[in-house]
Amino acid sequence: MTTWDPRQYAAFADERARPANDLLAQIPLESIAAGADLGCGTGAQLAQIARHWPAARLWGVDLSEEMLAVARESLGRAFSPEDGRRIRLERADLGAWQPPEPLDLIYSNAALHWLDDHGALLPRLMGFLKPGGVLAVQMPRNYAAPAHQALGETLATGPWRERLAPLLRPEPVSPPEAYDEMLAPFASRLDVWETVYYHRLSGDDPVFDWVKGTAIRPFLDALDAEQRPAFEDACRARLRAAYPKRADGVTVFPFRRVFFVAVKG
Ligand SMILES: C[S@@+](CC[C@H](N)C(=O)[O-])C[C@H]1O[C@@H](n2cnc3c(N)ncnc32)[C@H](O)[C@@H]1O
Repeated sequence: MTTWDPRQYAAFADERARPANDLLAQIPLESIAAGADLGCGTGAQLAQIARHWPAARLWGVDLSEEMLAVARESLGRAFSPEDGRRIRLERADLGAWQPPEPLDLIYSNAALHWLDDHGALLPRLMGFLKPGGVLAVQMPRNYAAPAHQALGETLATGPWRERLAPLLRPEPVSPPEAYDEMLAPFASRLDVWETVYYHRLSGDDPVFDWVKGTAIRPFLDALDAEQRPAFEDACRARLRAAYPKRADGVTVFPFRRVFFVAVKG
C-alpha cells in the first residue's frame, strides 16, 4: 500500500484544485440525498460537495490513514458537529468498497488511476447509483509526458533497478473515447473530455516536488532510507533537464487530464 504525505501533496493545492473544481462544475444535479467522494484524500472536495448540497448524506472513502486523519481534522473545523454528522469518513480499498445505500452522486478526483481494470470498475460504480445518479471522475493521463519518461529512465538505470522496475505499472488510464465506450451502455447522458493544464510553477525543482507528492510515492516506499536520497537526486536531475526553469523563474509543467460525467439511465 502506498503511503501518502498530506503536506507534500498540499504543496500544489491551487494547481490540484483546478481540475477538481472543473469537474464539480459539470455535475448536473440540483439536489442529492446521498453521495460519495472516492479517494477523498484530505477532504477538500468532500467539504465543497457538502457545502454545495447541504442536505446530503456523504461518505469520503480512502485507503490512506494519513490522508483521512487530515480530512477528519479539516472537516471537523469546517462543519458544526451537528452538520458534520451527515459526513462520514471510511477507510477502505475502492476496489472492494460498496456504499451502504444507492447513491445520487459518486465523485472521484485524481484517485481512480491508482486502480486497474477500469473496464470492470466503472460498470460496478455505475451499479451503485440510483437512476439519474451521476458518476463524475477526473484522472491524470500523463504517461506520455517527459515527467514519466524521466521517471522510467531513472528506474531503469540506477542500482534500484531490480527492486523498482517491476513496480512501474503500464498506463492505467485509457484515452477519452475508451471511457465513452465503457460508460455509454449505462448512461442516459455522457460527457467525456480531456484538458491539458499548463501549470506555472516556481522554485528550483518544482516538477520533482510535484511528483514527490504523487507519482513516485510507490517507489520511495519500496526503497531503504539509505537509497532514497540517491534516487531522489537522480529523479530531480532528470526532471530539471526535462522541464528547464525559464529566465523569469517560471517552470511550465503541462499536465493532461481526462474527465467524464455519466448520468445513469
Ligand atoms: C492524488 S490523491 C487525490 C485526493 C483527492 N481526491 C484530491 O483530489 O485532492 C489520491 C488518493 O487516492 C487514494 N487511493 C489510492 N488508491 C486507493 C484505493 N485502492 N482505495 C482507496 N483509496 C485509494 C490515496 O490514498 C489518495 O488519498
